[in-house]
Amino acid sequence: KKRIAVMTSGGDSPGMNGSVRAVVRMAIDRGCEAYCVYEGYEGLVQGGDLIRQAQWEDVRGWLSEGGTLIGTARCKAFTERPGRLKAAKNMIDNGINALVICGGDGSLTGADTFRGEWPSLLEELVKNGDISTEQQKTFQYLNIVGLVGSIDNDFADTDATIGCYSSLGRICEAVDYIDATAFSHQRAFVVEVMGRHCGWLALMAGVSTGADFILIPESPPDRDWEDQMCDIISRHRKLGKRKTIVIVAEGAHDLDLNRISPTKVKDLLSTRLRLDTRITTLGHVQRGGNACAYDRQLSTLQGVEAVNAVLEATPETPSKFIAIIENKIVRNPLIEAVKSTQEVAEAIKAKDFKRALDLRGPEFAE
Ligand code: F6P
Repeated sequence: KKRIAVMTSGGDSPGMNGSVRAVVRMAIDRGCEAYCVYEGYEGLVQGGDLIRQAQWEDVRGWLSEGGTLIGTARCKAFTERPGRLKAAKNMIDNGINALVICGGDGSLTGADTFRGEWPSLLEELVKNGDISTEQQKTFQYLNIVGLVGSIDNDFADTDATIGCYSSLGRICEAVDYIDATAFSHQRAFVVEVMGRHCGWLALMAGVSTGADFILIPESPPDRDWEDQMCDIISRHRKLGKRKTIVIVAEGAHDLDLNRISPTKVKDLLSTRLRLDTRITTLGHVQRGGNACAYDRQLSTLQGVEAVNAVLEATPETPSKFIAIIENKIVRNPLIEAVKSTQEVAEAIKAKDFKRALDLRGPEFAE
């Protein structure tokens, strides 16, 4: 019987539990045995109780739950070969020959490295007397499939990552709350949102809440941004708007571009426009909490497809991840997507913003 393991890795995101549930149940439905690896790559390296078989009923009620119920960790040991050697031994000890990983670009890159190294890891294990040549033959291929779980929606070649719409919903809800108090006092609020190098959450939250101004890493305003922002906001005020919302993506001020920061925006609004201004950093409320309907659906459909991909893969098939493109669940090459994702971050770092926007795609260009 094929043994398929599932794990979550990197920052948690709403919908990860839905994907674990789908992989476990689809694996069982297709006549395989399902395993969960707890605490991300840490579990793979440590083995023991952190790798356990999962039954159909073990994942009951998981679809809506936020975070990841099998845990996650940022694991240093797996970034080094001795850690990956231990991980390979633990997988073979448990009879696991396929792995579905739900995580961000770092986690999925790690998975592909592991797969590339697999034959040499097995050779080393045989040499050390940790596994037999018989086992080496049985487990000669490692099958890996990625699911992209992240609130940032920063991964190339897919329209949405598992968790981004739950997070966007949470941000919009928070801005609605802020709106009410801002309106009452005629105040301005600078709201900082997550997203790492990616401005998707800030951009879409701005569109969805009718914010006055947004600042994102892919498109920093030109040198006159301070004048532009103040002109727009004072025009809005003159039109009768009682509240002001400026959304700043965390990645925009990390770059230290034109000294953008929530404090800088606040100072401008209060000194130039004489607006009573507060800063709200939303923080991890954006990441926790139940998965929205879209993420429940996406994680389920993609989890099912991950198991199909595992069962249909041949040793020659390059590592794949499950994407959604124009509402269709598809399998895309993992490494190309990881490369394109990293290219955007590099373009931003190099201040090549035209390229960053082009790479992000049409949502950003418009
Ligand atoms: O990648 C998800 C994310 O929430 C980013 O938006 C944020 O920059 C980062 O993780 C925060 O990481 P941590 O929870 O480790 O502080």
